[in-house]
Amino acid sequence: MSDRTNVAPNDLNAFWMPFTANRQFKKNPRMFVAAKDMHYTTSDGRQVLDGTAGLWCCNAGHARPKIVEAVAAQTAELDYAPAFQMGHPKAFELANRLIDIAPDNMEHVFYTNSGSESVETALKMAIAYHRARGEGTRTRLIGRERGYHGVNFGGISVGGIVKNRMHFGTMLAGVDHLPHTHLPEQNAFTKGQPEHGANLADDLERICALHDPSTIAAVIVEPLAGSTGVLVPPKDYLQRLRAICDKHGILLIFDEVITGFGRLGAPFAAQKFDVMPDMITTAKGLTNGVIPMGAVLTTADIHDAFMDGPENLIELFHGYTYSGNPMACAAGLATLDTYREEGLLQRGAELEEYWQDAAHSMRDLPNVIDVRNLGLIAGIELAPIEGKPTARAFEAFLRAYDKGILIRTTGDIIALSPPLIISKAEIDQLFGTLSDVLRDLP
Ligand SMILES: Cc1ncc(COP(=O)(O)O)c(C=O)c1O
Repeated sequence: MSDRTNVAPNDLNAFWMPFTANRQFKKNPRMFVAAKDMHYTTSDGRQVLDGTAGLWCCNAGHARPKIVEAVAAQTAELDYAPAFQMGHPKAFELANRLIDIAPDNMEHVFYTNSGSESVETALKMAIAYHRARGEGTRTRLIGRERGYHGVNFGGISVGGIVKNRMHFGTMLAGVDHLPHTHLPEQNAFTKGQPEHGANLADDLERICALHDPSTIAAVIVEPLAGSTGVLVPPKDYLQRLRAICDKHGILLIFDEVITGFGRLGAPFAAQKFDVMPDMITTAKGLTNGVIPMGAVLTTADIHDAFMDGPENLIELFHGYTYSGNPMACAAGLATLDTYREEGLLQRGAELEEYWQDAAHSMRDLPNVIDVRNLGLIAGIELAPIEGKPTARAFEAFLRAYDKGILIRTTGDIIALSPPLIISKAEIDQLFGTLSDVLRDLP
């Protein structure tokens, strides 16, 4: 391979970076120029251990041979095929392979290009499904405080992130929210699922009483909320949500953009928790992050509700130019092969206890006010510096990067979610370095 170190563009101004403090970054940029398995290479030639699977997406690690080969071959064979009124074999093959590993009640796959688009797709499907069945009054969507469902208007509306409400106006009408499940007084330092908080699901009954169930199309939640700081669902919480949705004819959507593809030790969180939603939104690990792709998985009941009009008419007025793009499908198939051959969709369960012990060894370090974990995810919450929320965790991120580990922070919470190929020695390195960082932090 050619020497790729010390390659940096000489002008950083034009690129307006997403979810980044642009001015701060551009004064002191952090650049990755290569990646292999568990490590990134920086532009100054250092190796950085990937503690976050990129952005929760490179579940099989980096530059995995099967995926590299499949994508390279696909460009030469069929680079693009129109997504509407035309098909190509790999889109069908990948859909079948996804259904093979999905919960038993999932039977159909609709392709998107990202988690955000999967969420919009699922919300639109939910409303159109009820209409198709003659229940057109069901248009309300219920999300949850501290939920993250991507960046589009539907997703930010059902999401529960304050900054979206501050910056982007009134968003979708007819949305309501369940309370979040973060109960630090009762649940701090819980290993796995917390004992307290299942009753918070019962708030859905209050929402149903307020709006009447006949106006509610769907409830969308992340089975485990990742982006707002690793909020593990309390025991029995998801079961209760499912039961209340069933009682009132409301669809339940699990946003598994993070939890899908082995993150919690099973292919999907629905299987881990044994709670079957009506739709699952996915992206990220679907192609190991290599080519942008998302998918919505649905039951036959939802799909079939659209399939009874005249056969020559389009049943669902929705889709993207790149839905089921051949390159993405090739990456997806090779990713699923890699997961299967290396047992990666189960590896999170095998490593869970070791990972949990390593995470909870951070408990007595300065400023640590909570540690939480499930599968191969951990959240370490720090006390904020007075008057400077987020500053302490961000400083930890910078120092960790300098010491050779990539972590992610959200607010004052450190979130860890490494590739599922991580070894025990690398888990030790990740938490060993992190504890050095936390010990010296202001
Ligand atoms: C649960 C969840 N939904 C949706 C998204 C949005 O995905 P994307 O950034 O691919 O649009 C994310 C991204 O982190 C997510 O965690």
